[in-house]
Amino acid sequence: MTVPVTAPGGALVLADGLAVSRLGYGAMQLAGPGVFGPPRDRDEAIAVLRTAVESGVTHIDTADFYGPRVVNEIIREALAPYPDGLHIVTKVGARRGPDGSWLPAVSPAELVAQVHDNLASLGVAALDVVNYRHAEHGGPADSIAEAFGALAELRRDGLIRHLGLSSVSVSQLDEAQAIAPVVTVQNEYNLAARGDDAMVDRCERDGIAYVPFFPLGGFTPLQSDILTRVADRLGHSRQQVALAWLLRRSPAIALIPGTSSRAHLRENLGAADLRLPDDAMAELDAIGSAAAS
Ligand SMILES: NC(=O)c1ccc[n+]([C@@H]2O[C@H](COP(=O)([O-])OP(=O)(O)OC[C@H]3O[C@@H](n4cnc5c(N)ncnc54)[C@H](OP(=O)(O)O)[C@@H]3O)[C@@H](O)[C@H]2O)c1
Repeated sequence: MTVPVTAPGGALVLADGLAVSRLGYGAMQLAGPGVFGPPRDRDEAIAVLRTAVESGVTHIDTADFYGPRVVNEIIREALAPYPDGLHIVTKVGARRGPDGSWLPAVSPAELVAQVHDNLASLGVAALDVVNYRHAEHGGPADSIAEAFGALAELRRDGLIRHLGLSSVSVSQLDEAQAIAPVVTVQNEYNLAARGDDAMVDRCERDGIAYVPFFPLGGFTPLQSDILTRVADRLGHSRQQVALAWLLRRSPAIALIPGTSSRAHLRENLGAADLRLPDDAMAELDAIGSAAAS
């Protein structure tokens, strides 16, 4: 499989030798219900991944704790040997309980084990980007130095090429940047959930890719009369408009919308061709202000 020359949404350079399509793909939805166990339709999951890459997507987001292992194994089955130019971004910092619960796993030993789990399930000798995910435990004021430092050591050892962060605050980004370069921040952000505006601006200033998770609202799909009105007027779907808003919000943003269907994947990639006019941007901006008030 070869990666087409044209990246949907254009390319965003994260670091030397690391450029990704601004429209990427988030693989979490390929696991079973609750991101646990096998998918309802494994053949469709494989087809979604292959269609994404054939369409020019060069950024796939995953984690070994999706399933667990299920999603990484499907990625490997669908795409290995991986084409040049495709970048698989994974994350560590959690494990799953036997009932599917999300549990913290942030000690250096647990992080090292998760990196090795990702190497094995994806079938690679080194991971392109590993995000340290600070979600299940503590909050925005915690020190992440020990956890991020453990990953920085694996980067020095060559098991990881680049490091990123997920579910972190600006002060935690400061702390991490003093330890090793950070190429991505992956926090929750979308048209209605605008609590991370300052982080988006900070990433733009520092040349870090900001990769919002739940760009379409995640498990709670975006609902807004304004969004519906703008989408109807422009003749595009609400999902395309929500993604186009993010693409225009900052040139530092790279998207990883998730879907388990090729039809939704193609629709989402169509956001690359939608340049929102200024009046539509202003109308859509009001959704976040209304949600925040
Ligand atoms: N770092 C973290 O802590 C964290 C947390 C959550 C997610 N993530 C990452 O972020 C990625 C994106 O988040 P997400 O997948 O949870 O949420 P999302 O992209 O906001 O939304 C996905 C949901 O929207 C639906 N959908 C997608 N395209 C659609 C379309 N065109 N029309 C109608 N429905 C559509 C999907 O259902 P269908 O399957 O039916 O299309 C799915 O239920 C994940 O895949 C994962 O890689 C990271």
